[in-house]
Amino acid sequence: MILLRKPEEVQNLITELKSSHKSIGFVPTMGALHSGHISLVNQSTSENDFTLVSIFVNPTQFNNPEDLKKYPRTEKQDAALLETAGVDAVFLPSAESLYPNGEDSEHFDFNGLENQMEGKFRSGHFDGVATIVQKFFKLIQPDKAYFGEKDFQQLRIIQELVKQHNLSVEIVPVEIKRESDGLAMSSRNMRLSPEMRNESTEIYRILTAAKSFLKFNSIQKTKEFVKKEFAKTNLKLEYFEIADETSLLPISELKENQKIRGFIAAFAEDIRLIDNMSLN
Ligand code: PAF
Repeated sequence: MILLRKPEEVQNLITELKSSHKSIGFVPTMGALHSGHISLVNQSTSENDFTLVSIFVNPTQFNNPEDLKKYPRTEKQDAALLETAGVDAVFLPSAESLYPNGEDSEHFDFNGLENQMEGKFRSGHFDGVATIVQKFFKLIQPDKAYFGEKDFQQLRIIQELVKQHNLSVEIVPVEIKRESDGLAMSSRNMRLSPEMRNESTEIYRILTAAKSFLKFNSIQKTKEFVKKEFAKTNLKLEYFEIADETSLLPISELKENQKIRGFIAAFAEDIRLIDNMSLN
C-alpha cells in the first residue's frame, strides 16, 4: 500500500493511473476506521482497479472546536486495517497542504438540502464537507466515490454537488453497518463510556419502534412517540425528523410512492450520535 502525504504525490500517481486507463475508487474518511469504513473499501476494491482512501480530519466541517480536538485519531491502526483490506493507496494530507490560504470553506447552495436537520444544528458543517470533498474530487478524479448512508444528508449533498458541477464521478451509496445490537457504526462510538455505549442502542430500538408505530399512526403521532421514548432513556434527543428521501424536506403527510426516512441526532453525555432508517 502506497502512503501519500502531499497533494503533488497524489497528482503524480493519478496521472500515472489515468495514462494506464485504471479505474479509480475513492473512499474519503476522517480515520478512526471501523467495519463500516471497511465495507466502503471492500465495495471499492471489488468495483475498481485502484482504491485510494483519504484520512483527514477536516477542520472546516467542525462547528464545535472541542469536537474537533476530541475527534479520535488512530493513524497507525487505520493504515494497518486498510493494508489488510487490500487498499492500494492511502492519502494522509496535512491541513496546510489542503488549505494553503487558511482554513476557510466555500459557500454552497444545495437547493435547501443543507438547511435541514444537521444543517440546522451544525452551522457551516456542509460547506466544510463540500469544500473538502470538492478539493479531493479535483485532485483524485475518481471514477467512483463511496459514501455511507449513516450520513444520509451528507450523501444527498454530495450527490447534489456532483449534479450542480457536472462532475464525472459516480457517487455510490453504501448501507449503514450496525453493531450486533443495532448501534450504527461510527468513529465516535469509541468515545462512549461502557454505560453510554449500552444506552446508545436505544437509538436503533426507537427508530425500529417508530417504523412499526408509523404503520398505524400519523407522522405527528410518531414524532411524539419518539420524543416520549427518548424521555425514558439517558440520551438527549436533539431532533427526530421524518423527511422525504430525495428533498430531505420534513413531511406531515405521506404521499403515495413517496420514500421517507426517519432521522435522529442524540447526545450520549457529550457525544453526538446520528442515525437514520428508511420508514417504508
Ligand atoms: O463522512 C466523513 O467522514 C467526512 O464528512 C468526509 C466525507 C470524509 C469529509 O471530510
